[in-house]
Amino acid sequence: MITNNETGTRVDEVARGIHRICTPLDVIPGGFTVNSYLVADDEPLLFHTGYRKLFPITLEAIGKVMPVEKLRWIGGSHFEGDEFGALNEFLAAAPEATAFCSEIGVLTSINDFAARPARGMGDGEEFSIGSRRMKWFYTPHVPHGWDCGVLFDESTRTLLCGDLFTQPGAKMPPVTQSEVLTASEGMRGMMDYYAHATSTAITLERLAGLRPSTLACQHGSAYRGDGAALLRELADTLGRGNGKPPAAIA
Ligand SMILES: [Fe+2]
Ligand SMILES: [Fe+2]
Repeated sequence: MITNNETGTRVDEVARGIHRICTPLDVIPGGFTVNSYLVADDEPLLFHTGYRKLFPITLEAIGKVMPVEKLRWIGGSHFEGDEFGALNEFLAAAPEATAFCSEIGVLTSINDFAARPARGMGDGEEFSIGSRRMKWFYTPHVPHGWDCGVLFDESTRTLLCGDLFTQPGAKMPPVTQSEVLTASEGMRGMMDYYAHATSTAITLERLAGLRPSTLACQHGSAYRGDGAALLRELADTLGRGNGKPPAAIA
């Protein structure tokens, strides 16, 4: 469903009760997308606020699914503008919502930035939002950010995987069953968005162990299929290519 004709923002349910709010941007040649995910439940959860400047657009899109003031959880993978830029605007619009991220994220950024105290999730911490149990995984530097983490919805086996598998382009389906690694490797070739950490392979194997059936990427299509296989392929690819400078500056 298109929610704004001017920006081309759209909302699509990519797994049961998980709505991808996508706004295309022209920030790189060929375009780019920024996705927030709204998880419907007794205590609705928003994963990624989108940029502060996009707040009215994201708000409008959420309003097509549910009243924004019902939001109880507002989180994100790591502290950057596309993940948390509109946090304070959303905290004001949803007075009962709690911001969350990793413990390190709270310590380094969110408790300074946010208008209300945030909840720092420990690695492996689970919490209920009604009918779903969400589980937080701390994934430092994967793909980037000391504070980085991802969120797993056990009921739909959806991994809200943040910037993992970032795909360039503005015109793509909300959800695809075609692998997204080739596209995300194209993006990594253009601008190397991965930290070259020593523990990356271990972290990705841990996520593969969840056997996700949907990878809810923040940039590009969500992927439906064998998430474990794709995460392992990513780990292999990174293992082979680590240390290689991005093509743009080679
Ligand atoms: Fe990022
Ligand atoms: Fe991002």
